[in-house]
Amino acid sequence: MSHYFPPVSLQRSSPDRETCLEILCRYDVPSHIVAHSQRVAQVTVTLGGLLARSGLCLDLALAEAGALLHDIAKMISIERGGDHAAEGAEIVSSLGFPEIGEIVRRHVHLGREDDDFSRITEVVLVNYADKRVRHTEVVDLEDRFDDLVDRYGITAEKRRRIQLLRAQALRQEAHIFQRLRQDPSCLNRLNRFEPHIFLEEDTCLLQP
Ligand SMILES: [Fe+2]
Repeated sequence: MSHYFPPVSLQRSSPDRETCLEILCRYDVPSHIVAHSQRVAQVTVTLGGLLARSGLCLDLALAEAGALLHDIAKMISIERGGDHAAEGAEIVSSLGFPEIGEIVRRHVHLGREDDDFSRITEVVLVNYADKRVRHTEVVDLEDRFDDLVDRYGITAEKRRRIQLLRAQALRQEAHIFQRLRQDPSCLNRLNRFEPHIFLEEDTCLLQP
């Protein structure tokens, strides 16, 4: 694997969509993981837009970049083992994007500091969006967690941990959607569009 990004000091702004895709390409992220990440970014931006419209202050460029880069180390961890969230966070931080690194680090487990979900942050947004996407399909949380149990619940302990995550995600979802008029299932309407399509307007979600 060749890395063309020189070590840099702190970058001032979030990389745009094109730059994120370039980074994924340079880290040899396979196309199916890129497509998954684009769908997670699409959910992130759409839901983030609805939340922003409800008055929440969110940096959507930061959240979008976090969503696009969240699985940058997934293939590395499949091939060599290890924690893809921690490894991905290190990669992204080393490129000069520590805030995005934090989103990547916490995209699987939020960590205890968010247990009360009193603040919906870019970290929370991407963590939730990732749990709504199975491969490239937007699904309900229950579907996604059933799939996780099928794929990763090989021991009782792993199944217990997935169930804890499921309960946390459902609380998180309730907290997010109590701010909105829409139901969580409105996001499933994004399946009408290709994962790489970014909707500048979220009006599609208002239509049944
Ligand atoms: Fe993911």
